[in-house]
Amino acid sequence: MKIENSTVLITGANRGIGLAFAKAFIARGARKVYAGARDPSKISLAGVRPVQLDVTSAADVKAALWSLSNGLRTQGTQVLTLHMGFVDTDLTKGIDMPKSSPEAIVDRALFALEAGEQEVLADEMTQQVKHSLSTDQAAYRAVR
Ligand SMILES: NC(=O)c1ccc[n+]([C@@H]2O[C@H](COP(=O)([O-])OP(=O)(O)OC[C@H]3O[C@@H](n4cnc5c(N)ncnc54)[C@H](OP(=O)(O)O)[C@@H]3O)[C@@H](O)[C@H]2O)c1
Repeated sequence: MKIENSTVLITGANRGIGLAFAKAFIARGARKVYAGARDPSKISLAGVRPVQLDVTSAADVKAALWSLSNGLRTQGTQVLTLHMGFVDTDLTKGIDMPKSSPEAIVDRALFALEAGEQEVLADEMTQQVKHSLSTDQAAYRAVR
């Protein structure tokens, strides 16, 4: 997928990894960036279009789809699975573990998106876990 001139919808775009994605899409020249948030008044990033979107609300999802589907339909949809360990956001504030920055994760995700990948292992932890799955002592077991 080419990011320049694309139409993008980001959920949870008011903070954390979602906000990092919104900034990165704007910086890379996406044409329309719809920034979803449960409370759209929390979207302060210039250049995006705030959208009311609680992903657990059928009414919100329906309304968002209605307004966005034309833009998204014409460009097709690429599905990319993003794997990551700990990322430095509000979610991991109390966790004392090595963390990636949201920007580093987003950089790798968008590189993989443009390269047409289907999966991205965005940090060392997830790369090690995947690599170890075919060994006797899988890394995710050692962590328990
Ligand atoms: N940080 C990590 O280490 C890590 C690692 C792996 C996966 N993840 C996943 O990555 C995603 C983002 O994580 P984060 O670290 O950026 O978390 P975060 O800093 O806590 O931000 C969470 C975001 O999700 C929004 N959100 C929560 N419930 C929602 C709902 N029902 N509908 C729409 N938006 C909702 C929040 O909006 P409000 O401001 O309204 O609450 C906020 O924008 C999460 O799914 C998380 O599980 C994170």
